[in-house]
Amino acid sequence: MFEMLEEIRAYGLTSIGSADGLEALEKARVELLGRKGRLTSLLKGLGQLTTEDRPKAGQALNMLKQELEAACENKKAEIARQGIAVRIKGFDPSLPGRQMHSGALHPITQVLDEVCSIFGRMGFSIATGPEVELDFYNFEALNIPADHPVRDMQDTFYIDDKVLLRTHTSPIQVRTMEKTSPPLRIIAPGKVYRCDSDVTHTPMFHQVEGLMVDRDVSFSDLKGILTFFLQEFFNAEAAVRFRPSFFPFTEPSAEVDIQCVICRGVGCRVCSQTGWLEVLGAGMVHPEVFRHVGYDAEEFTGFAFGLGIERFSMLRYGIDDIRLFYENDLRFLRQF
Ligand code: FA5
Repeated sequence: MFEMLEEIRAYGLTSIGSADGLEALEKARVELLGRKGRLTSLLKGLGQLTTEDRPKAGQALNMLKQELEAACENKKAEIARQGIAVRIKGFDPSLPGRQMHSGALHPITQVLDEVCSIFGRMGFSIATGPEVELDFYNFEALNIPADHPVRDMQDTFYIDDKVLLRTHTSPIQVRTMEKTSPPLRIIAPGKVYRCDSDVTHTPMFHQVEGLMVDRDVSFSDLKGILTFFLQEFFNAEAAVRFRPSFFPFTEPSAEVDIQCVICRGVGCRVCSQTGWLEVLGAGMVHPEVFRHVGYDAEEFTGFAFGLGIERFSMLRYGIDDIRLFYENDLRFLRQF
């Protein structure tokens, strides 16, 4: 019996050790340890031994069984390791890994978020409206009838006679006032479209509209809010000036300039040597706009303003061509 065990041991370890794959290993295991395997047959024959020899033989058989099972497990792990090594042949773990670039917010999104956050701190909430807009909201309700010459200033993409891509965010004022009773204080950020393209104009750009309506809102509220906003955004004691201007939906209207952030008012190429940069349009809401939305212009007054986010981004980062924002050149975008 003990001689046979020694023979099975030698044979078993050799056949397990020389298995060249999982299939061969399984074959060797079944031959030794399977139900009809060589070791199992010996176990079955234990009963024929004398009572004296049986415990010793049983113990030796069990030890051999454990040894062969362990040899099988080790061989299995070795085969798995070899498999991985074959699959990753040519891989040099000592080389540096490929650099992963993490994504970041587009500079226009960053500036848009910042503008919204400054107005948010002053109690303005966010309103939205459709980019594909009715002529009524984009023009008519803003006191711009069909034959009004100001329509030429905003080269419009028309879809049909009544539908267009909004040329500014001002239609959101009208839509919000239709749904809400005063007092209200909103900003409306969003994409707008004009058939326009050069170093300071793109066919799609972003505006933020602002609107505040209440009893006794005056032009000095407008000046105070916009001056505070500009000084927060440009992080400086930049001088701000209000120039008389014209918008059909505000009266009186103003264009707002800040002292050139590049030359600090001395005069440079960016400000066309004037020392000032125009950054937004504003004014007191025209009574005709209130009439369209059913507000009583005798009881309520309000101011509105609109600014171009691309213009603010160009000034913030000293960029002299607006188109850079939309070329998606990662060398440009990664700087922000
Ligand atoms: C308006 O669009 C008015 N709705 C703003 C307004 C709202 C005035 C409420 C009064 C009350 P304007 O056409 O000036 O105004 O445009 C506002 C800003 O949009 C400009 O100062 C400029 O910064 C930006 N802008 C205009 N056209 C383009 C363009 N094609 N590309 C990029 N920015 C533009």
